[in-house]
Amino acid sequence: MSDPIEAFHWRDGVLHADDVPLPAIADAVGTPTYVYSAPAIRAAYRRLEAAFAPLGARLHYAVKASPNLSICRLLRTLGAGMDVVSGGELERAWLAGMPMSDVVFAGVGKSEGEIRAALDGRFSPLRGGAAARLGASDPAGRGPVGLLNAESESELAAIDAVGSELGVRARACLRVNPNVDPHTHEYTTTGKTENKFGIDADRVVALFDAWRDRPGVELVGLHVHIGSPVPRVEPYLQTIEVLGVLLDDLAARGHRLEVLDLGGGWPVPYAEGEVPPIEAYAERIVPLLAPRVERGLRVLLEPGRSILAAAGVLLTRVEHVKRGRVKTFVICDAGMQTLIRPSLYRAFHFLWPVRWEGPEPARVETPDLEGLAPCDVVGPICETGDFFARGRPLPRIERRDLLAVFSAGAYGMSMASNYNDHGRPAEVLVDGERAFSINRRQSLAAVLETEREAVELPLAAEPRLAERDLPFGGPASPAAEPEPGERNAAPDAADEDADERPAKAASGSRG
Ligand code: LLP
Repeated sequence: MSDPIEAFHWRDGVLHADDVPLPAIADAVGTPTYVYSAPAIRAAYRRLEAAFAPLGARLHYAVKASPNLSICRLLRTLGAGMDVVSGGELERAWLAGMPMSDVVFAGVGKSEGEIRAALDGRFSPLRGGAAARLGASDPAGRGPVGLLNAESESELAAIDAVGSELGVRARACLRVNPNVDPHTHEYTTTGKTENKFGIDADRVVALFDAWRDRPGVELVGLHVHIGSPVPRVEPYLQTIEVLGVLLDDLAARGHRLEVLDLGGGWPVPYAEGEVPPIEAYAERIVPLLAPRVERGLRVLLEPGRSILAAAGVLLTRVEHVKRGRVKTFVICDAGMQTLIRPSLYRAFHFLWPVRWEGPEPARVETPDLEGLAPCDVVGPICETGDFFARGRPLPRIERRDLLAVFSAGAYGMSMASNYNDHGRPAEVLVDGERAFSINRRQSLAAVLETEREAVELPLAAEPRLAERDLPFGGPASPAAEPEPGERNAAPDAADEDADERPAKAASGSRG
């Protein structure tokens, strides 16, 4: 499988994921369901790795793109490190078996609790049996993450304070805001001065000077992530120019930088031929960085979309077809609660019936085929903004038909919600002829579990809980309900080893 897009193909009039017909998956687990192809994920990973091999670039998979544990585990077996942006993703990386030294922790708003868990596993919310129940070893003994990517002076201060207290000198990169336009949607533009991300380039050298000899943090490199997806290579070249000047200035002032983390943003063609291939990016970028790599700089990338997007489809069933006076509405069981990208970014996703006897359609907005009629493909949500496609030429579609929404493997499931009280969809991973359920459909009972009852809060006149002593800064103990099914379990496993936690934390944990 050289191209992930080949993973989803029509065979005998039925769309397959690898060798598995999609209707068989709908029969087994229902719809809506995200279906991923393991060979496609492997192929995309290897392709990216090969493109940047001349730099020896290490790929840290951006977990946010598609965080399912089985997908994270698959990527770990391929040799990926991980890029996480929250305490939750950090624990996911741990559950996927990732050594903490291979984890890069980015994100503009890390809480003190998250920084603690990133530096010392005793502060993981999965300590004391929770990790074991999820099939991983106890995080209590784990060491610090390989890198923290810091985005502000305030965050550097927090890392330094936590690191000093724990006796850990955290390794950190400064995220630079290079003020470069990535030519992508304004909501996913992250490297312009007006965006909340990173530190303005002209302040970076002064910060390195100011934070030179701190006990709790050591600045070892620069990080950048300019946006996602970045549909042309020039913004990366401009960014590297900014970074190059900084690297030279920093070296001249005696700072020895080990790491350059170029972030993610590598695009995929949602419509055929829409963006240059990843090799075209590498071709231009490699020569700019190769001399620095020869002198010892390590290059990291944080790809998410480019590994997962084309390796997944969203399988949805048509509930109703409404042939109105002006247009035809195809109303699906999936909607903006399942895949929000079209609603949020007006993103284009090719979609087509799973059963299709005609010629293979070009994966473009307007395929050049006979007998198509414009349709609005929409979901069940009570908003006009709930759509996958508007005025899209499609073959005749009937009630109960299955549709596949393509290139949905990245930022599909990870952005799904419970809006209008829909459970989150199921996820299936196909590998050749086999299919694995990697996430059961969320039941309505699970959606409602945390709202079961109103529990009066014991409001304290004085704050009794130090926020930093709680896992990721919360929840406070009265709300710390047992997980579903654990209600009668004696005593809450998370409490059992509270004594083993550092005295300060234990004293504050059950106010
Ligand atoms: N590194 C950092 C610091 C990031 O913020 C991101 C994505 C990545 C890496 C991975 O970028 P990728 O290689 O996947 O392009 N929800 C949007 C995309 C938001 C991306 C957020 N950050 C979408 O559906 O298009």
